Amino acid sequence: MTIPKDIHSFSNPQQIAVTHLALDLNIFFDRLSVQGTVVLTLERSDSKADQLVLDTRLLQIDETEWSKDGKAFKEAEFSLGQDDKILGRALTIHLPKEAKFVRVAYSSDPLSSGLQWLTPEQTAGKQHPFMFSQSQAIHARSWIPLQDTPGVRVTFDARVQTQQGLKVVMAAQRVSEGVYKMEHPIPSYLIAIAAGDLAFQSTGARTGVWAEPSVLPRAAKEFEDTEQMLEAAEKLFGPYRWGRYDLLVMPPSFPFGGMENPCLTFATPTILAGDKSLVSLVSHELAHSWSGNLVTNATWSDFWLNEGFTTFIERRIDEAVYGKEREEMEAALGLQDLEDEIKSLPPKDTILHIDLAGRDPDDGATQIPYEKGALFLRALEEKYGREKFDLFLKGYFDHFAFQSITTQQAIDYMKASLDPNIDFNSWIYQPGLPANAPHPTSEAFAKVDTAAAEWSSHGTLPDAHAWTTHEWLRFLHALPEKLTQKQMHALDKAYSLTASTNSEILQQWLLMAVRNAYEPANDKLVEFLTAVGRRKYIKPLYEELAKTPKGKERAIEIYETARPGYHPIAQSTIDSILREP
Ligand code: BES
Ligand code: ZN
Repeated sequence: MTIPKDIHSFSNPQQIAVTHLALDLNIFFDRLSVQGTVVLTLERSDSKADQLVLDTRLLQIDETEWSKDGKAFKEAEFSLGQDDKILGRALTIHLPKEAKFVRVAYSSDPLSSGLQWLTPEQTAGKQHPFMFSQSQAIHARSWIPLQDTPGVRVTFDARVQTQQGLKVVMAAQRVSEGVYKMEHPIPSYLIAIAAGDLAFQSTGARTGVWAEPSVLPRAAKEFEDTEQMLEAAEKLFGPYRWGRYDLLVMPPSFPFGGMENPCLTFATPTILAGDKSLVSLVSHELAHSWSGNLVTNATWSDFWLNEGFTTFIERRIDEAVYGKEREEMEAALGLQDLEDEIKSLPPKDTILHIDLAGRDPDDGATQIPYEKGALFLRALEEKYGREKFDLFLKGYFDHFAFQSITTQQAIDYMKASLDPNIDFNSWIYQPGLPANAPHPTSEAFAKVDTAAAEWSSHGTLPDAHAWTTHEWLRFLHALPEKLTQKQMHALDKAYSLTASTNSEILQQWLLMAVRNAYEPANDKLVEFLTAVGRRKYIKPLYEELAKTPKGKERAIEIYETARPGYHPIAQSTIDSILREP
């Protein structure tokens, strides 16, 4: 298998590829550090290569050794390269030709970008600390020295210890307490770990939920359909190949909605709405068990292969479990997000196969790979029919199972198994949307749009008692940007929006409150920004605040208190919004 060059990695897998990791780690909460050793198994393509290059970021390297048999190790010389702001530092280890294994003794830094350390106060139970990793896109290197490119796949085994009374979980198969193994080759960005006061509740034969004890009953209820989602996905796209599918409910500072770590999706607690209205996030992360974890983007420019395919499959799962009406609303909301994003991005960043030269791969994580990617697949589904397209997808997952592929490989496969005449150029290499792009619509939304127009022009409050979360999100989005105090008060009085317990609705309402200087929501805004660290929620709020001098002052004041509770990834996003120009 040829591994493509990845501009986001210093490593040299084209000469020597790592195929397995054996981790032996200790999680030290007092030092905010993960320390231990990793033994890397090597596979040479270049018999003359005399050095192995690994990625690191803020890692302290204590010793490197090499071995022929994985038992007897001898010291190897190493050097660390210049620190690059985006990529970190190359670790070059000098090796004799007969080296088959390398052992690195290391420790992570308290400021490691891939780990977050929470004090007991930042957890639901308030009694125990909590830590977790977030490796995607290029943060695995901040807690394990490795070839940090999705083009390289490794199996691993791990032994992890931590302080008494805490549970360690990893996104892998559990062997025994603190012992895990991953027998399928996976890319580095899917290696994941967490430790805290965690308990488990089953939701089905292969599915279940991990959470802090006080959150567990609520979470298990919210996610009770997970087994059904898994069965629906298998029926459409072939067997689930990872054994168990569990969810880990994170503390509220988790910077993402969800992360598809294999066997164990990490999920924000903000989706615990009480009515399952936000569980499409579970469909999404579960869908990655096929698109992403089984068939993986080879570089971060191919990210749409992960997220576009996943967003398409997410909606197919939702349709199977919750029906066509809900799926239509989700697709229509997706299109709305996509149109907003296309308006706000420079045209070159609306290309699916994005150019990330000199940039952080996280810059590519916009709505484009998700929604434009999904729309492309929807266009193909419409053209070739659902039956044929489903068969194509199943075949694609079988054909590329446990491989990392480029956009070109996906295109070649589509040409061969679907149609050589697909308009790949418009969809994948041109900005914006092709003129004939599908336009998902929803009957329910047509009514909501009318209600929004009626209210805006005549003040007629709609009868919204039966509205779903999706309809509410559509309604709020359909209102004019500028509203009077009277209008804001009227909405809040009629529908108690400031008191909404649905995080999506509340976030959108708070955004409107900031935009329209609606003071009754001030306390709620502070509370929300201090309690929640999900980047998708807090970034637009800080951006909206920063648009006026007074708002920016407030933002800086709130951020001062909130920042220590945010994940390093979220901190750097908000830093760049509020930093003086
Ligand atoms: N894999 C992504 C999260 C991610 C992307 C982390 C890029 C780091 C870099 C995950 O599957 C995802 O897309 N999460 C979304 C939620 C989803 C329902 C769209 C999120 O976190 O908002
Ligand atoms: Zn995703």
